[in-house]
This record gives sequence, structure tokens and C-alpha cells, in this order.
Amino acid sequence: MVTIDFSDLKPIKNSTDRIPAIGLGTWKIGGNFVPDYSKDTLWIDALRYGIEYSIEKIGFALIDTAELYGAGHSEELVGEAIKDFPRERVFIVTKVKSENLRYERVIRSAKASLERLKTNYIDLYLVHWPNPRIPLSETMRALEKLYNEGIVRYIGVSNFDVRLMEEARTYLSVTDIIVNQIKYSLLDRHAEKEIIPYCQKEKIIVMAYTPLEHGKVLRLEIIRKLAEKYGRSPAQIALNWLISKPLIVTIPKAEKKKHIKENIDTMGWRLHEEDVKLLDELNVRKIGRS
Ligand SMILES: NC(=O)c1ccc[n+]([C@@H]2O[C@H](COP(=O)([O-])OP(=O)(O)OC[C@H]3O[C@@H](n4cnc5c(N)ncnc54)[C@H](OP(=O)(O)O)[C@@H]3O)[C@@H](O)[C@H]2O)c1
Repeated sequence: MVTIDFSDLKPIKNSTDRIPAIGLGTWKIGGNFVPDYSKDTLWIDALRYGIEYSIEKIGFALIDTAELYGAGHSEELVGEAIKDFPRERVFIVTKVKSENLRYERVIRSAKASLERLKTNYIDLYLVHWPNPRIPLSETMRALEKLYNEGIVRYIGVSNFDVRLMEEARTYLSVTDIIVNQIKYSLLDRHAEKEIIPYCQKEKIIVMAYTPLEHGKVLRLEIIRKLAEKYGRSPAQIALNWLISKPLIVTIPKAEKKKHIKENIDTMGWRLHEEDVKLLDELNVRKIGRS
């Protein structure tokens, strides 16, 4: 029996659906820019473990992948891993890469992702990076067509600034973007200046990527001290700080089961307000909010 803490399920704009505050990132699972098949068994096992544990903990699992990752192999591994679970328990995010943002290519990319994921719908389809050489109107029209056809349930963007988010939204008539996936961590606060305030005002979820800065945040003295105070791991402190904020979810990548468990166990409790503030202030003093 799962007791779900609703503060760990962040609400989707104009919907009664919610997504888990902590998801499973997959960059480098299945290769970087070319496929890597060398650890398939380990990766599928790790993904299954994460999905199972997340469903047990919060009722759902969130997975972030992209057609770019391992040139599609990451999606294939996700497709293999989700097979044993009820489809509606897994919220799959995938992305169309910036070379494929022409209308027909967006449609083709989404269908190719479906094949690799072995599913008949994508929960959330994101524009991976903006491409100034392709009119955004074309891309957004294609996303809306995929939405109208039920191929994608929700649409969103990644690495978009406020001006581009605003522009993207003007091309939509029946739906809206529900997520902007951006780099955001204790050590990278650029998004706090404009993107996060805009998203919070517009009820758009901010999906924070590289939340651990590949391990760099774990070495901060304050993180280690708080880890000791709470009896939690440094990663859990850094991730909990992110998800303590409204409409922020995060997708750490982990392939070690110990890390996966630790990350999912970041849900179900919260740092005290004064410690959240302490971490809020950390960067203001040390590196500024440039
Ligand atoms: N939209 C975009 O442009 C974009 C860009 C970058 C990333 N992303 C997405 O965001 C995800 C996360 O970002 P990222 O992969 O760049 O970096 P990250 O999540 O900050 O760091 C991943 C590294 O942290 C380690 N780690 C994970 N959990 C840990 C824990 N509890 N304790 C100690 N170490 C831990 C992992 O180790 P192990 O793997 O060995 O367990 C891995 O080496 C990606 O996988 C991808 O899905 C999106």
C-alpha cells in the first residue's frame, strides 16, 4: 500500500495529472552520441529497479530520455525496462533534437521514438534545444498535431529562455507547454533570474537537469554538514533543496542502485525552512546570480 505525499507529485498545468518530483535521467545510459551496447543488461536492470522503487514509493515513475541519447539506444533501453510495468504508472519524457525541428521531421522523430520505446504514446515531448535556423512556428505546429493525434499527451521545451517560451506559446491554440527542462542546481542559479519566476507565474514545471553537477555539489561543505544533521546523504540534501520549491522537479542520472534508491528516497521528507534558506543564500554569497 503506497501512501502518496502530494507535495512530491507536482501538478501539471490545466490538468489533474501530477508528476513525481524526482525522475530518472538517462544521458549516457545507452551511449553518448552513438549507441553503446556494452552495459545493456546492467542499464535495463538499473532502470527497472528505479521504476519499481519509484512506483512503490510514490505510485509513479518519471523517466527522461531523448532521441539524441546514444543515437536512440537510450530510448530502446527505456522501452525494454518499462515492459513489465503498467504503462500508466510510468511517465515518459523524450525529446526531439534541434536538427529535427522542421514540421515533417518532428512528426517522423516522434514516431521513431514510439518504435524504440515500444509504446503507443509519449507522455511528454520536448524540443531538446532551440534552433534559430528553423522557424519555431513550424516546430510548435508539429507538436500540436502530435498532441491532437494522441501521440503525445503533453508538450514542452528544453533550454528555452523566457522570450522563446513566450514565442513558442503564441503558436499553440489547443494546448500549452507544461515544462521547461533546464540546467539548475545549487551551483548553477542562472535560471533563478528570469526563467523560474516566469514558469512559476505561468504554472509551467521547471525540470532541473544536471542537479548534482556530476557530483560536484556533493563536495560542498554546507551540504556535508546538512547531510550529517539530517542523517541523509549529500545528494539527498542537494536534491531535496530543489524539490522543496514549487513546481520544480529534477531528473538525476544514476546507474548505481545505491544512487537510484538514495535519489528516490529524497521524496517523502523536507529540509526545514531555515536550511532551505541557508542553501538559497549560499550562491548569492559565493558565486552570485549572474
Ligand atoms: N535537456 C537537456 O539539454 C539535458 C542536458 C543534460 C542532462 N539532461 C538530463 O538530465 C539528467 C541528469 O543530468 P546529468 O546526467 O547531466 O547529471 P547529474 O544527474 O547531475 O549527475 C550524474 C552523475 O551523478 C552520479 N550520482 C547520481 N546519484 C548520485 C547519488 N545519490 N550520490 C552520488 N552520486 C550520484 C551518477 O553516478 P552513477 O551513474 O554512477 O550512479 C552520475 O555520475 C540526464 O541524465 C538527462 O536525462 C538534459
